[in-house]
Amino acid sequence: MTTITHEKVESNDKKGIDYNAVIEQFGCQLITSDLLSKIKQLTGKDKLHPLLENNIFFAHRDLDILIDKCLREKQNNFYIYTGRGPSTPNLHIGHMIPFITAKYLQDLFGVPVIIQITDDEKYYHNAKIDINHNIFKDYAIENIKDIISCGFDMDKTFIFINSIPVVGMKDNLIKLHKRIKLNHIKNIFGFDDNDNMGRISFPVEQMTPAFASSFPTLLLKDDKLKLNTINGQLNYMLFYKHNDRNNDYTRTYDSQMTELQNMRCLIVAGIDQDPYFRTLRDIATKINEHKPIMIYSRFLGSLQGKDKKMSSSIDNSSIFLSDTPKQVTKKINSAFSGGQETLELHRQLGGNPDIDVAMQYIEFFSNDIATVIEIKDKFKKGELLSGELKKQCITLLNELLKTFNDTKQIIDIEMIHAFMSIKPLII
Ligand code: TRP
Repeated sequence: MTTITHEKVESNDKKGIDYNAVIEQFGCQLITSDLLSKIKQLTGKDKLHPLLENNIFFAHRDLDILIDKCLREKQNNFYIYTGRGPSTPNLHIGHMIPFITAKYLQDLFGVPVIIQITDDEKYYHNAKIDINHNIFKDYAIENIKDIISCGFDMDKTFIFINSIPVVGMKDNLIKLHKRIKLNHIKNIFGFDDNDNMGRISFPVEQMTPAFASSFPTLLLKDDKLKLNTINGQLNYMLFYKHNDRNNDYTRTYDSQMTELQNMRCLIVAGIDQDPYFRTLRDIATKINEHKPIMIYSRFLGSLQGKDKKMSSSIDNSSIFLSDTPKQVTKKINSAFSGGQETLELHRQLGGNPDIDVAMQYIEFFSNDIATVIEIKDKFKKGELLSGELKKQCITLLNELLKTFNDTKQIIDIEMIHAFMSIKPLII
């Protein structure tokens, strides 16, 4: 049995989540090798990032439209949107999957990335009524450091914390609040009358950044509007109200909005986030917006087994960015193994790569798909021992963590500020 909702991912099978069942339940499409080939062809690459090549990003909605309308016509007229709910101060390596991918696609296509940090979501969600909201803001800043360590391009990336308003976004928030009915949200998210108002209205907060028109100060090509701010507010706010529709400024504003409405959004997320975005797709065309496009990833299982949840509150269940090489070695060595009890049995019967945790980490993060296939095959035949497999996994993970840690060394408060400040992302 596999259960996936916007806040729970579970399976009681050692092989982990049944993703085919999920696709069927949600009504998304599989990312086929044909789609990946088209992207390779258009970008002139002979391979893509392993998270795409190894099918860790396995599902999509309208990726074919992105390829035809945004890539084939060579405009790259889209931006990437992803996010993080700051429920803990430290990110584990599973949390990094959307960010690693967003950064990779940013480099591949030269497009802006917008990252939402939902301190409000985690505050509303917390069961303790008098918990201090500031805790989640602190987590947000810590999480932002980990996210930046993926190597995002500072000039093309905007990171915002939900409790700090982004100029220009409110118009779309209001529009969506008007369109979305309470009974619809209750149905999709399973809220009941005892849930607080924050939880009930939060879905709209997560949907709004999926329209380019929510970011007139960030995503406009024309310098005219975005540079005209007064005390942090857009000038048009003042003109709009007091002038008629023939006014030059108002006309400029209207055409700028149309320009933004032509820009598409590619959401990079875990499959559990689909309830937000499929709801939004139903509304988009009614308010003159394109439906957002998404790619969705699988989940990295717990170190205790793919049927267990990886949890940031249980230290041993995952590899954290802050783990030392020694801790990584210790954790992987005691991770759930698909090997046999004894060496003789393993040589004789072979291992089970489908339930082996170290194997899954290699599948997620190895740069070389041919090696992944070879390791899997040798393990299955009993030629590769569990200890040998784990050793390869440890080397791989320590190399990966080192790249994050090296980048993290140079992050200071000015850099965080630069990522969070309003600036034109399209030059
Ligand atoms: N709800 C997400 C979480 O709990 C955070 C998030 C906000 C997000 N906006 C997003 C994730 C957009 C993916 C895409 O982590």
